[in-house]
Amino acid sequence: MKVTVVGAGAVGASCAEYIAIKNFASEVVLLDIKEGYAEGKAMDLMQCASLNGFDTKITGVTNDYSKTAGSDICVITSGIPRKPGMTREELIGINAGIVKAVSTSLLEHSPNMILIVVSNPMDTMTYLAHKATGLPKNRIIGMGGALDSARFKYRLAEALEAPISDVDGMVIGGHSDTGMVPLISHATRNSIKVSEFLSEERLEQVAADTKVGGATLTKLLGTSAWYAPGAAVSGLVQAIACDQKKIYPCSTLLDGEYGLSDICIGVPVVLGRNGIEKIVDIPLSEAEKAHMQASAEGVSKTNGLLEL
Ligand code: 2OP
Repeated sequence: MKVTVVGAGAVGASCAEYIAIKNFASEVVLLDIKEGYAEGKAMDLMQCASLNGFDTKITGVTNDYSKTAGSDICVITSGIPRKPGMTREELIGINAGIVKAVSTSLLEHSPNMILIVVSNPMDTMTYLAHKATGLPKNRIIGMGGALDSARFKYRLAEALEAPISDVDGMVIGGHSDTGMVPLISHATRNSIKVSEFLSEERLEQVAADTKVGGATLTKLLGTSAWYAPGAAVSGLVQAIACDQKKIYPCSTLLDGEYGLSDICIGVPVVLGRNGIEKIVDIPLSEAEKAHMQASAEGVSKTNGLLEL
């Protein structure tokens, strides 16, 4: 199993590290445009192999896509991260050109790849990847919901004063500060609805804190987060590589599902060796349906900024 991660910045390097530690891939190629940077990160990570017990071979390359040839899964993390006070959508001017160039360069050397897009604004970048590559829609996946769901579970566990292993929850919709749809009606503490433990007011606060989870960290860190984004995308890579048939909320091209078409936005999907193997239709409350529709309008507005 060969995986390529484009972008050796904090998110890409964290993704490569988590993939290696999980030890399911034979090779990870880490590519960056900055001379020597990916090579250095790969070497540093490989010097963890004996310490962290993995046999995955991590190779760093500087802008040489021939070294990515034959990749089964490719992850795009390249582009600029946001600064405090910025929205993800404000990154489109620079990141759209990068994602278009990277996805076509990857496709040239790995025509059978499954592509995972992380770069922001992620839903629009995922849509752009479709337009740029023409890959089948099951083979282009946007990573946002897995990260947002992890933040939702973090906030729920905090409010419940429960171990996070007891908490389950999912966030669908756009990966944006205003467009996320935390599914409170589906969230549970060990199969018990969280509304049995928390007031509606407290649950609304959990949802609000979840939506700005990324912005909260950007304010604290001065740049975008990287540990949880890296961990989230490594989970998607593992689900595909190991044919796990796990359900994750991922940005995928819709064709009528959830009443939406010609848009990439987060919905529950089954991930396996063929990428998105099924889009899962789940019941939504009227409020959740309204939030999803509003979220889609926001994503479509950002898509309209693309020069396709
Ligand atoms: C985040 O929410 C980078 O969009 C990513 O942290």
